[in-house]
Amino acid sequence: MHEKSIDLLNQALADELSAIHQYMFFHFHCDDQGYDLLAALYKKTAIQEMLHAERLAERILFLKGEVVMEPAHPVETLHNVQDMLRIAKKMEESSVMMYNRFANQCSQNADNVSKKLFEDLAADEELHYDQFDIQQEHLEKFGEQFLALQSIERSKGLAGPGTQA
Ligand SMILES: [Fe+2]
Ligand SMILES: [Fe+2]
Repeated sequence: MHEKSIDLLNQALADELSAIHQYMFFHFHCDDQGYDLLAALYKKTAIQEMLHAERLAERILFLKGEVVMEPAHPVETLHNVQDMLRIAKKMEESSVMMYNRFANQCSQNADNVSKKLFEDLAADEELHYDQFDIQQEHLEKFGEQFLALQSIERSKGLAGPGTQA
């Protein structure tokens, strides 16, 4: 009876698993390059996507479906901060579109609880998009200085208060 919803929920879960892997990858690389602010944003977003995955899995189980733990896409191995933000925005944009579409389909199938879940997730993905968009704007506006500042802040932190003359 709920096969269609279970299928949509599993498609969404695959999308979330891709996002988790991709943002963890971006987190590691931003951290490695000393960009603490961006690293923290990717880490925080990956954790939020993990909570989305959990809500989807819970709903699938409630509907007596099988949870399929397979990411929709492989991780893109990007190391450039601009490219990372571009891809992150694209991923969020496509999630928003997909979840809105799925919400409508659930509504047509008289499954309003799944519809509400997709609406909630779409709202969160819009916020994620906005956060990445703001970072991209900063990068365009301040260029390399925006990144340099993050590295300098880290160096200050590593040096610690006791080591300054
Ligand atoms: Fe998500
Ligand atoms: Fe997201």
